[in-house]
Amino acid sequence: MQNISILAIESSCDDTSAAVVVNGKVLSNVTASQQVHEAFGGVVPELASRAHQQNIVPVVDKALKDAGINKQQLNAIAFTRGPGLIGSLLVGTSFAKGFALALGLPIITVNHMQAHVLAHFIDEPVPNFPFLCLTVSGGHTQIVLVKDYLNMELVGESIDDAAGEAFDKTAKLMGFPYPGGVWIDRTSKGGDPKAFSFPVALPQKDTFDFSFSGLKTAVSLVIAELKKSNRLDREISNLCASVQEAIVENLWRKIALAISRFNCRSLAIVGGVAANSRLREKLSSDCPVPVFFPKHEYCTDNGAMIAAAGAFRLARGQSLSLDQLLSLNAIPYPEF
Ligand code: KG4
Ligand code: ZN
Repeated sequence: MQNISILAIESSCDDTSAAVVVNGKVLSNVTASQQVHEAFGGVVPELASRAHQQNIVPVVDKALKDAGINKQQLNAIAFTRGPGLIGSLLVGTSFAKGFALALGLPIITVNHMQAHVLAHFIDEPVPNFPFLCLTVSGGHTQIVLVKDYLNMELVGESIDDAAGEAFDKTAKLMGFPYPGGVWIDRTSKGGDPKAFSFPVALPQKDTFDFSFSGLKTAVSLVIAELKKSNRLDREISNLCASVQEAIVENLWRKIALAISRFNCRSLAIVGGVAANSRLREKLSSDCPVPVFFPKHEYCTDNGAMIAAAGAFRLARGQSLSLDQLLSLNAIPYPEF
């Protein structure tokens, strides 16, 4: 059997990542995270594009070296075409096009959100079809019905903030550094999740969409009260536990609704918020179907998931030739 070696490039947000995957096996997965945004409490698109520009050559170089292969051994280039920040996407898109053109290789465009779902097929054990995937990152919150590797349907998503964004924005109100999700998780240990009451999910029974926008206002009002009475420090664990409970409950209600509506054999979770300890606890106690989490490095933005998606598309003949490549552009808001 011929070896199929894919180099994959991810640059949709603030992580520059490249991976080499040979016959489905990840030989390297190199990510440069951008610290430049920390001081601003969120990703600054212009700075992200510039950092990708600096990172992309060394990251790809390291991915090839770590994999122990050279450019001539590659069979295809996969890259994230969207969704994402347009300046960031353009860096990966231009690099991938130039690289493929120079080497005369086919190119495979990948939808970043589909790649998150397909991260579940990088390692065993894998979920059985059909399954539901909850993607919970700093930029997205989606419930996807996955019927096959490339047959997916978006059944619900956040109409405002993403779950990670809800963690990060409320953490910022409390004075934690960016990204604050992990700080809320840690600080909530020992706190009372019922100490403060915050808005939970969209009440409609017929939507799988999420909303987190009311949470920030509610949390800022509580913080103002606590500051006035000099109790913020004393109550911080309770506050974190209560905010975390509201976000997790929000996610769980819509997931539980989707599980009961669709006849699914498993639930898959991916994205940075998959690391949240309360979410994991809730799913392990209440979820009626088996729950799958990829390894942490495949949960957040990474090149290996782009390679996995690229491999499925390549196997189905969905790569582009050099002629088609020339007119290829990034798409910030592609169809799912
Ligand atoms: O997938 P990811 O890297 O997102 C994007 O780049 O879009 O995940 C980052 C998000 C951030 O919002 C971060 O605060 C959140 O995941 N996060 C957590 C935890 N660890 C990371 N949120 C809650 N609890 C955690 N333990
Ligand atoms: Zn992502």
